[in-house]
Amino acid sequence: MGEALLNVKGIYASAGDKTILHDINLDVPAGETHVLMGPNGAGKSTLGKTIMGSPEYKVTQGTITFNGDDITKLSPDKRSRAGLFISFQAPVEVPGVPLASFLRSIAAQHKELNLRGKRYKNRIAEIMDQLDMDEKYLTRELNVGFSGGEKKKIEMMQLLLLQPKLAILDETDSGLDVDALNVVSHAIQEYKKVCNGALLIITHNTRLIEHLDVDRTHVMVRGHIMAEGDGSLIDNINKNGFEQFGLPDYAKKEDAEEAAAQAKAGAADDEQPAQKGMFAGQGGAQGQTFDADSALKNAEAALDAAGLKSKGGTK
Ligand SMILES: Nc1ncnc2c1ncn2[C@@H]1O[C@H](COP(=O)(O)OP(=O)(O)OP(=O)(O)O)[C@@H](O)[C@H]1O
Ligand SMILES: [Mg+2]
Repeated sequence: MGEALLNVKGIYASAGDKTILHDINLDVPAGETHVLMGPNGAGKSTLGKTIMGSPEYKVTQGTITFNGDDITKLSPDKRSRAGLFISFQAPVEVPGVPLASFLRSIAAQHKELNLRGKRYKNRIAEIMDQLDMDEKYLTRELNVGFSGGEKKKIEMMQLLLLQPKLAILDETDSGLDVDALNVVSHAIQEYKKVCNGALLIITHNTRLIEHLDVDRTHVMVRGHIMAEGDGSLIDNINKNGFEQFGLPDYAKKEDAEEAAAQAKAGAADDEQPAQKGMFAGQGGAQGQTFDADSALKNAEAALDAAGLKSKGGTK
C-alpha cells in the first residue's frame, strides 16, 4: 500500500488530566471515503479536532502525518492551508463577523484557490445555489441565530469553497431535514468528484453515506479503534450495535479497578454500621456485609480477567 494522505500513528490525546484518545492508528489514502463510528462519548469528535490541531486537546504521544509532512505540532490554520478541513458537530457562533466577511477571509488565506474579485463572487453564488441557500445569509453574523440545519449548510459552503484534500465531517447529517440532507449529500459527492477529495465521515446514521462508496469503516470505543472493515461493517453495526467490539484493555482495567474500589468502599462501610446513621437500621447489616463481600469477590475476578493481579487489594 502506498503512503496514506492522512496517517495517524499511536496518538494519545488529553483534555486537562483526562486522556481521551488511547493509541489511535488510522490511515486515509487520497480520494477514499472512510467512516468513523462509535458510541456517544467514544472520542470521535475529539479525534477529528485533534487531527485539525484544536488547542482544546493535548497530544501526549504519537504522530499525525498529512501529505507526507508531520503536522502533529502545526497550528490549525497551517493544517487548513495544507488541505485539511473539518466540519464541526457544533459550529461556533461568531457575533460581529458577517458570513460574507468570514468566507472572504478564509478564501484570501488560501491563495492557491485564486479566488478574487468576480471569480470569488461567482463561486459563492454558485455554491449558495447548489446548497439551496438564501443570499440574505451572507449579511448575517456567522452562525448567529442560524438554525441547526442552516449551520450545517454554512459548514458545507466552506468545504465547497476551500476544496480540501481531506474533509472530516463530524455529524454533518444530524439536524438536516430530508431535503437538506439530499442537497448536502449531492454537494459532498461533487466535492469527491471534482477535487478527488478524501472524506472521514463521523456519523450515527447511514443516510448521508448511502450515496457514497465507503472504502473503509473504523469503530472507536472508549478512545481506541476496536475494529476496521469495509462498508458492510456499517450494516453489521446497525443490526448488532457496538457491544460486540468489546472494550480496549486499558478500559477493562480502569473499570475493574473502579469496581474493586467501590466494593472496597462498600465493605468498609459495612464494617462500621454505627457510622452510617439512619441507613444502619435499614435492611440489616448482616445482609449488606454479605453483598459487599460478594461484590469484592466479583471485582477481584474482574481484575483477574483484565489481566491484573489484585494482590489482595486494590491500588
Ligand atoms: N474539552 C474537554 N474537556 C473534558 N472532557 C472532554 C473534552 N472534550 C471531550 N471530552 C470528553 O471526552 C469524551 C469523548 O468526547 P467526544 O465528543 O469526542 O465523543 P464523541 O465520540 O464525538 O461522542 P458523540 O457521538 O456523542 O458526538 C466524552 O466523555 C467527553 O465528555
Ligand atoms: Mg461527537
